[in-house]
Amino acid sequence: MKRLFIRTYGCQMNVYDSERMAEAMGAEGYVTTEVAEEADMVLLNTCHIREKAAEKVYSDLGRLRPLKAAKPDLKIGVAGCVAQAEGAEILKRMPLVDLVVGPQSYHRLPAMAKAADEGRKSVDTDFPEEDKFDYLPERPKSAIRPTAFLTVQEGCDKFCAFCVVPYTRGAEVSRPADRIMREAQGLVEKGVREITLLGQNVNAYHGTGEGGDWSLARLVRALAKIDGLERIRYTTSHPNDMEDDLIAAHGEEPKLMPYLHLPVQSGSDRILKAMNRKHRAEDYLRLIERIRAQRPDMLMSGDFIVGFPGETDSDFEATMDLIRAVNYGMAYSFKYSARPGTPAAEKTPVPDEVADARLQTLQALLTAQQRAAQESMVGREVAVLVEKPGRLPGQMVGKSEYLHAVHVLSDAAPGDIVRVRIDASSTNSLAGTVVAA
Ligand code: SAH
Ligand code: SF4
Ligand code: F3S
Repeated sequence: MKRLFIRTYGCQMNVYDSERMAEAMGAEGYVTTEVAEEADMVLLNTCHIREKAAEKVYSDLGRLRPLKAAKPDLKIGVAGCVAQAEGAEILKRMPLVDLVVGPQSYHRLPAMAKAADEGRKSVDTDFPEEDKFDYLPERPKSAIRPTAFLTVQEGCDKFCAFCVVPYTRGAEVSRPADRIMREAQGLVEKGVREITLLGQNVNAYHGTGEGGDWSLARLVRALAKIDGLERIRYTTSHPNDMEDDLIAAHGEEPKLMPYLHLPVQSGSDRILKAMNRKHRAEDYLRLIERIRAQRPDMLMSGDFIVGFPGETDSDFEATMDLIRAVNYGMAYSFKYSARPGTPAAEKTPVPDEVADARLQTLQALLTAQQRAAQESMVGREVAVLVEKPGRLPGQMVGKSEYLHAVHVLSDAAPGDIVRVRIDASSTNSLAGTVVAA
């Protein structure tokens, strides 16, 4: 028996991929460990989205040096988006690395690990003809929790001026609907109650299925018919792919949860244009009105970039105005990071101090909105999908429909859904009392 330690950076798709790689290696006799020191193989599943994320990989690799010196048989692999972007360069810069595997080649990882055991280093950053999903084993029951990710679409054709994803993940590809349905069915049979459909642009999903082309809405409606599957979510979406049938599904399909991550990046039309986002701030606001007409309680989430090249004070104010108009329940915000090979990287950057100050101002507003959204839950009744025991005796933790973490004293088991009245809101979670089932 060999032990595999995986560290995951970046987005949910990497979380999903790490699970699938663990399963692929599991079929080769590897069990996962949480302790790097006892591993026979350390795999870093990396993210290239911002400079800090990418550089962290190299410092973490550096920190593995003493471990490798003490344990020469230890194999070190780099997977994910840094692997894709930098390929063989990683072996040059970090000779302790044994293998480099890009996101589309994970099904080849076991063979690469075997090669490493025989003393051969390998790099695979192909976009292979075959579909990795056809070669990855099914998830073992032991790995199952009440909530699971399921990748339905990968890659991106949007080429936002700041973003590396179209280069690291390749062109947009949707998995066939029947494979997704089968995978979902299998997960539910093993005890999964909630599935989050993943894609870099998940709402651009158009897969082949029975009767022709399936949109994301069609997929959601088909999944909703699976008995035992109680909740469906999807992420991440692009505003321009928010089609009418998907908006309608939010009003009609109770299993589709009222939480939507819909990044806009900026509220300034000039900056949106420079970013190549291909819509105006007004279009985004109208879109949210239409979504809220279907689901008035929809909790909106978003992503923002401040300090994009050319961003003026008034562009920034336009972003602040948009945030006030939407009123986000959740949001992620980042300082622009110039990424090699992207069009925006050629442009003159906004001074660091200016970008830092804007980020602070923006985050203060978003935090206030988030807190208010959470506090507005106090006194309301929500449905909590129980995930695991909490810290206190008898306490369980789960998520509400709105993805708020909720603590509750209950004898419910993971996978149960309980009605809870919210009594209190703290920084990162809610607390409540079980009401009649
Ligand atoms: N496909 C998704 C987002 C993928 S990346 C979408 O289009 O919305 C996740 C987030 O990282 C982006 O929404 C953006 O806010 C941020 N991001 C991407 N590239 C960045 C960069 N170069 N600098 C700073 N933030 C970036
Ligand atoms: Fe990146 Fe834009 Fe594609 Fe999102 S839509 S992954 S931000 S290029
Ligand atoms: Fe990062 Fe790649 Fe995801 S760059 S955000 S891990 S798609």
